[in-house]
Amino acid sequence: MKVIVAENREIASQEGAKIIIDQVKNNPETILGLATGTTPIDLYNNMVKDHKENGTDYSKVKSYNLDEYVGLDGTHPQSYYCFMFEHLFNHININPENVHVPVGKGDLQAACNAYNDALKQNQVDIQLLGIGSNGHIGFNEPGTPADSVTHVVDLKESTIKDNARLFFNGDEDAVPKQAVSMGIANIMNAKKVLLLAFGEGKAKAVKGMLEGEVTPELPASILQNHPDVTVIVDKAAASLLEKQY
Ligand code: GLP
Repeated sequence: MKVIVAENREIASQEGAKIIIDQVKNNPETILGLATGTTPIDLYNNMVKDHKENGTDYSKVKSYNLDEYVGLDGTHPQSYYCFMFEHLFNHININPENVHVPVGKGDLQAACNAYNDALKQNQVDIQLLGIGSNGHIGFNEPGTPADSVTHVVDLKESTIKDNARLFFNGDEDAVPKQAVSMGIANIMNAKKVLLLAFGEGKAKAVKGMLEGEVTPELPASILQNHPDVTVIVDKAAASLLEKQY
């Protein structure tokens, strides 16, 4: 894995955005795998800025998001669908018909099957990831098997707490207890992976991902088996690393 320890979050986000922008410039029909959470927000801001200043063209780009809360649809302000339009899709020239976010309402099994089929037809060129403080990627919580595909997940208490703090005004009861998430196998099928992690709260997960054993107990550690991963962290998230990068 290529590891970049950036001076700070701002620089890390600029470097991450540059990787995605270069990918889109090199292949205007790029298929992006996109993520939510606080981590990618600055990266998306940089993509928007670049689109406005340099006109990078997203008209032929397709996107597949990692996950969605069960019970929330695009009309809910905390849905990941809404998040993506607010932070990125409304501000670049991507065709709304080309964006895909897992569906968290209605017949969930049918929705998961349809998402898996779509991902089979559309191999992601570059998958953007954050990481949970417990090492989850997407919403693949500790214990998720490596061969998992899009599925319904019971969220761990720690994830509900983390996400309540960041997005639901601290109201844990408002956070859905389940989500639909791409599985580990879907993520590993991407041609390239770009993972960002910021802050002290991620240091333990980052250490396990990069320097620990590969184990389902720390889902991000499986990325050690992927041939093309770039990890960009700030100094705080890198603070427990022992090797030099
Ligand atoms: C959620 C998302 C993950 C994200 C994680 C970390 O659980 N499903 O994709 O990586 O939060 O969130 P944050 O970036 O806000 O720390």
